[in-house]
Amino acid sequence: MPLSYSDATTNDTSAYLARLGCDLHVHVLSGIDDGAPSLDESLAIIEAHYRAGYRRIIATPHIRSDFFPNTRHTIHEAWVTLNEIVCKRWPDLSLTYAAEHFADDYLMLMLEEELLLPLSGRYVLIETSMRDEHPYFVDIVRALIDKGWQPVLAHPERYRPWHAKPKRYAEMREMGLIFQINLLSLGGQYGSVEKSMAERLIRQGWAGAVGTDLHRANQYPYLQKAARTPEFEMLCDLPLLNYTINTHEERNR
Ligand SMILES: [Fe+2]
Repeated sequence: MPLSYSDATTNDTSAYLARLGCDLHVHVLSGIDDGAPSLDESLAIIEAHYRAGYRRIIATPHIRSDFFPNTRHTIHEAWVTLNEIVCKRWPDLSLTYAAEHFADDYLMLMLEEELLLPLSGRYVLIETSMRDEHPYFVDIVRALIDKGWQPVLAHPERYRPWHAKPKRYAEMREMGLIFQINLLSLGGQYGSVEKSMAERLIRQGWAGAVGTDLHRANQYPYLQKAARTPEFEMLCDLPLLNYTINTHEERNR
């Protein structure tokens, strides 16, 4: 059966994602990366999230010097525009912002200049290349940890170079990375390989956080598919960062 946005937003009000408490990875701010292309799309995502039970959302636009050269300023401005509407329409919803930092030289520069945009406190969301292993990824992770940051690795299940090297996941966990699984992976958005790796990491108890990584409202049916899997139940029972992260302090920055 084809997936449709209307199925996701108008026929389902069961708040099935409420248990997760917080979406800590979503490209809901409009016009500054490959996420929501318009304010209307941002609001459609927020509305769908609200119906699904989320009451805390951390917007995480990309910061990547070659493709998405965002700064604190561009992200803050986009957040202000959206948050003004959110506060009026959904007063019990908290929308804060952080960034999904690509692990590259620019991240190192932001680290040196103390410009990183954390999820909260010292938790910082990072990503790496899905095609090739970045030669300095380990060094960048170590530098973050040495400076007192707790890196949260976005969608480890999507890094195909790691799939052939299962030890990679153990090594990265031992270094101190928190693995953040995408619900879209679990719902099959990216294909069977990523879905299987997400299931495997959850079954091993290696998922430390969960986000949607939604870029468009029409991806929503994949979240519903994810929530129907047995791994979703296992995921909810893990000690996820979603349950303890403090987003309140960031509300009015
Ligand atoms: Fe993302």
